[in-house]
Amino acid sequence: MSDEHGTIESHPLQGETYPPSPEFRDRANVNDPSVYLRAAEDPEAYWASEAEKLQWTKPFEEILDWSNPPFAKWFQDGELNVSANCLDRHVAAGLGDRVAIHFEGEPGDTRTITYAELTSEVKRAANMLTSLGVSAGDRVAIYMPMIPEAVIAMLAVARLGAAHSVVFGGFSAESLRARIDDARAELVITADGGYRKGRVSALKPTVDDALALHGGGSSVERVLVVKRTGNEIEMQAGRDLWWHDEIVTYDDQHQAQGFPAENPLFILYTSGTTGKPKGILHTSAGYLTQVSTTHRNVFDLKPDTDVYWCTADIGWITGHSYVVYGPLANGATQVIYEGTPETPDWGRWWSIIQKYGVTIFYTAPTAIRACMKVGRQVPEQYDLSSIRVLGSVGEPINPEAWRWYREVIGAGSAPIVDTWWQTETGAIMISALPGLTSLKPGSAQVPQPGIDVNVVDDAGNRVDRGQGGLLTIRRPWPSMVRTIWGDDQRFIDTYWAKFGDQYFAGDGARVDDDGDIWLLGRVDDVMNVSGHRLSTAEIESALVEHHAVAEAAVVGADDETTGQAVVAFVILKSQQTILTPEAAEQELKKHVAAQIGAIARPRQVFVVTELPKTRSGKIMRRLLKDAAEGKDIGDTTTLADTSVMQTISDRMRAEL
Ligand code: PRX
Repeated sequence: MSDEHGTIESHPLQGETYPPSPEFRDRANVNDPSVYLRAAEDPEAYWASEAEKLQWTKPFEEILDWSNPPFAKWFQDGELNVSANCLDRHVAAGLGDRVAIHFEGEPGDTRTITYAELTSEVKRAANMLTSLGVSAGDRVAIYMPMIPEAVIAMLAVARLGAAHSVVFGGFSAESLRARIDDARAELVITADGGYRKGRVSALKPTVDDALALHGGGSSVERVLVVKRTGNEIEMQAGRDLWWHDEIVTYDDQHQAQGFPAENPLFILYTSGTTGKPKGILHTSAGYLTQVSTTHRNVFDLKPDTDVYWCTADIGWITGHSYVVYGPLANGATQVIYEGTPETPDWGRWWSIIQKYGVTIFYTAPTAIRACMKVGRQVPEQYDLSSIRVLGSVGEPINPEAWRWYREVIGAGSAPIVDTWWQTETGAIMISALPGLTSLKPGSAQVPQPGIDVNVVDDAGNRVDRGQGGLLTIRRPWPSMVRTIWGDDQRFIDTYWAKFGDQYFAGDGARVDDDGDIWLLGRVDDVMNVSGHRLSTAEIESALVEHHAVAEAAVVGADDETTGQAVVAFVILKSQQTILTPEAAEQELKKHVAAQIGAIARPRQVFVVTELPKTRSGKIMRRLLKDAAEGKDIGDTTTLADTSVMQTISDRMRAEL
């Protein structure tokens, strides 16, 4: 692999492995290695047998239609209801009294919701949405804090055969509006606010601002507002309704109807290499099959005894697949926590694990590193002995964080599953299976059964062991993105144009001598900040929208805690008088946060007089990245002006 794909470091720790304990292996859901072979020999038969574990209102006969690649159809002649699979099915099986959600609000309020109660609430909400005009084929935007109503709203929308578009509560009015417009959502479900870091973080005013943008006219007819924080908000007559006022008028009888397997389930926007976020479309049965299978296998879920907790927000794919659909389809008992790990102090997560006896814990490396920084003396004050499986997602987990996670949180014995996947893949694609795999810190390791992952060279040929290349997926998989909402061509161009018959994930990877896969990060202009995807182009375009900015270049620089951090280089307009270079850093950080959301706020903004460009005018971001990381900038001979980089690099070194 060439330099532009990132450097391949040889990992001295490659020899370090942790086989499953005999006790774990004996009791594991998957402990027969022949599953890999069976699935590889006939992946369609494997996925069909997994799909049959769901409840179908009309059984499928056709497994996969790949006659019009890259548009896959799975189980397309079958019908089911996703929401009924997550709810009614368990109640009918006599599991109504099982706790579905242990909710822990940030201020300390709690709710325990059984499967019977959750089912009733979703049925009530489905009746409410029906009378508000929601029906199959519609889109509903959800802009909510992490409270049970967020899950209820998603399942109620799904129950009606409509599609939800959940927008992370940290996104700005602009970002929310762009997503509402793209999906043409007619209803927004929100809350007055949520609790974050000990404060009320208002949401409804952002919805108001979003809907007032661009002269006001939007596709939205109604806004349903859950009361969570009690902050003062405005309710627009004829448009806005309180959830609690409405829902009490509906009963909890609702017969779920089956919908075709390929009925859209949700759109979730994610950053790509251009400024415009992509609406990733997922459909029903294939998605539900793969999220439930992987949730059961990768986490070794025992639904009658485990207490599962995934810390992801429902605004991200991890929240969709491993808070809502996977766990609920499997009848799991789970914890949902509203707030941040440091509120009121860094013991909060560990106190929740102790309180509910959490057995399976799934979080991101950035959070683990933040906890490491605070120190092991904090988790050591809590009884974490219930933990038996740990999961990691969002970015490669560095071996040091891996070992700390296992030792301090997992009592030195819990297997860690490092799960590689994407918004587009819908479900886990690469991960150890804890009853089978000898774990290697830092490596995501093996494709899931029935998944054909490859590391290839630029021509699409598999690289030899010990080599690096690009990560691709050869055969369609059930929870695969079906298209980019409203833009089939962009779907083809983004993922399929490069190799034709292989899905290109955008990640670099290396295969080691045992065939295990090590992820090396993105090879495109997508950054990974705290496990979240951000596009350099999107932040650059937000910066140049500021009146004082002439030009901007953004890079993801390595960061000890967040994996990567946003570092921006801007040229101010020569005639402008709005901003002094001294005031620019704070102002532009604020500007980006207001335009996109706080997650996109740059760590640093540097005002420069020139940007390094090739003779053809392309900004050399790679050089800026090196400079932002304090590295030697190396060869600059392809630059139009070779002195630019020297000036920037000297400045950066002075600041670091
Ligand atoms: O670069 C990979 C990284 O996150 C990207 C997907 O981001 P997103 O769609 O936001 O989904 C994140 C949660 C599934 C990937 O292209 N990534 C995700 N998980 C891992 C990872 N990189 C390395 N190891 C992982 N376990």
